[in-house]
Amino acid sequence: MVDAKQLVEWFPNKKAKAPGMKNANVFYRNLEEALDIKRAENATFTIRKNEPNPRSMDFSTLDFLHLSKSGLIRQPFLDELSAHPDFHLGAGGSRLLNGNNAYTDEAEKEIAEFHSGETSLLFHSGFEANVAIMVSVPRPGDAIVFDELVHASMHEGMQTSKALCKKSFKHNDTESFREVLLEIRESEQMIREGKRSILVALESLYSMDGDLCPLKELIEIGGEIFPDGNIQFFVDEAHTTGVFGHQGRGFVNELGLEHKVAIRMHTYGKALACTGASVVCNDTVRDTLVNTARCFIYSTAPSFPMVAAIKAGYYLMRSGQTEALQDNIRHNVKHFCKTMSEHEIWDEANDEGILRIPNMDDWENNPMITQVMPVMTRQRYTKFLCYHLQLQSLNCFPIDYPVVPRGFNRLRIVFHATNTEAEVEHLANSICEWAQEMLLLEESGKGGVRIPSAARQVNEAHAAAELGRAGVPSGP
Ligand SMILES: Cc1ncc(COP(=O)(O)O)c(C=O)c1O
Repeated sequence: MVDAKQLVEWFPNKKAKAPGMKNANVFYRNLEEALDIKRAENATFTIRKNEPNPRSMDFSTLDFLHLSKSGLIRQPFLDELSAHPDFHLGAGGSRLLNGNNAYTDEAEKEIAEFHSGETSLLFHSGFEANVAIMVSVPRPGDAIVFDELVHASMHEGMQTSKALCKKSFKHNDTESFREVLLEIRESEQMIREGKRSILVALESLYSMDGDLCPLKELIEIGGEIFPDGNIQFFVDEAHTTGVFGHQGRGFVNELGLEHKVAIRMHTYGKALACTGASVVCNDTVRDTLVNTARCFIYSTAPSFPMVAAIKAGYYLMRSGQTEALQDNIRHNVKHFCKTMSEHEIWDEANDEGILRIPNMDDWENNPMITQVMPVMTRQRYTKFLCYHLQLQSLNCFPIDYPVVPRGFNRLRIVFHATNTEAEVEHLANSICEWAQEMLLLEESGKGGVRIPSAARQVNEAHAAAELGRAGVPSGP
């Protein structure tokens, strides 16, 4: 079992610091004042130690295929290193000066071929790739249309983009998308006349909600309203690379829509267990990025180990070694849905609003159920549920503001290839056990404070830690 003391470190109480710094240097005091605003809003982040606990069951990491946890990626990575014993560790400069080499060129070629793209371009991270695309591709006079829930990196890029307008549509809402396109057609003559373009920015799988974008429908609507082809699509495949599509080629491949999507962005820090990202596109888009994306031009090229790790990941996918892992993920998700829906407390917990798992709707008939399953409960209960599961060695975390809007916090469960059926059952039963405890507390509480047992243990551990910090002995 995980100890409540560990959770004190993971979920520290955040107190204002600036008031105690009256005599400190103004440089640091002002920084702490700014942080205090976030602390007061409960909107600060903590870098957790995440020491591996051998008994802890992973329902949290984005190592979806468990290539990292299982170590499956190690051997092909080591093979890459031994096949190139004279490798130069660092690239030695930007790709545009002396940082390029045949090994990186070859990796990009392999990536493009695997994803049936004309070409590809490597970036150090998905964040940088998204910023580069959003800043460089839409020209002045063009429009960007984006799902309101796209990743922070796309917003970062849009802040600098010189596009004429940037308009969001409601999350995954095809009617809202249609309205935004009609508005643009009405108000922007150059776009209406096919002289300027629209770039539509989407994620294949929205990782906070675990839902897939209705890509086919969005492409159809786009083509209907702008039949001249001056609307193009950009899909961020961060959470579907390795998990969806033939051998992990991604969601666009799963739908067979490669020829309809101008830009795909595949990241390697999640299912492929390394770092970096690539943009799969045509030569024109690649040349545009190479010539205008400042994080590409003014940054040292990827190191040999980074490219070797990416190649190792592609080797595993191409050789079919990840296919069974993809299937396991889906099996685990379905097994969870089955165990939950058959649990005696499930209906009541749903009816009373203690548990809501939107992605379980019609799970039996959903061939594309995803590995991300947010669990909604009353807002103040989300942490209680997290504590309960953590104390049962079930590793999953709440997602809070500012990552999701206020009022929409949730516990995010992520399923992996090597989670066992027993682990999945333990997870489902623990959630239901907690729901049962909350139902009983609500029935008996009559408006009083309803703190379930796991949260009480964590609160007590917090209090003991406070006493310890104040120098008061915490007991015999
Ligand atoms: C949808 C999405 N896009 C891009 C990124 C950034 O990718 P990376 O971690 O490689 O920077 C993330 C990462 O969290 C993501 O979730």
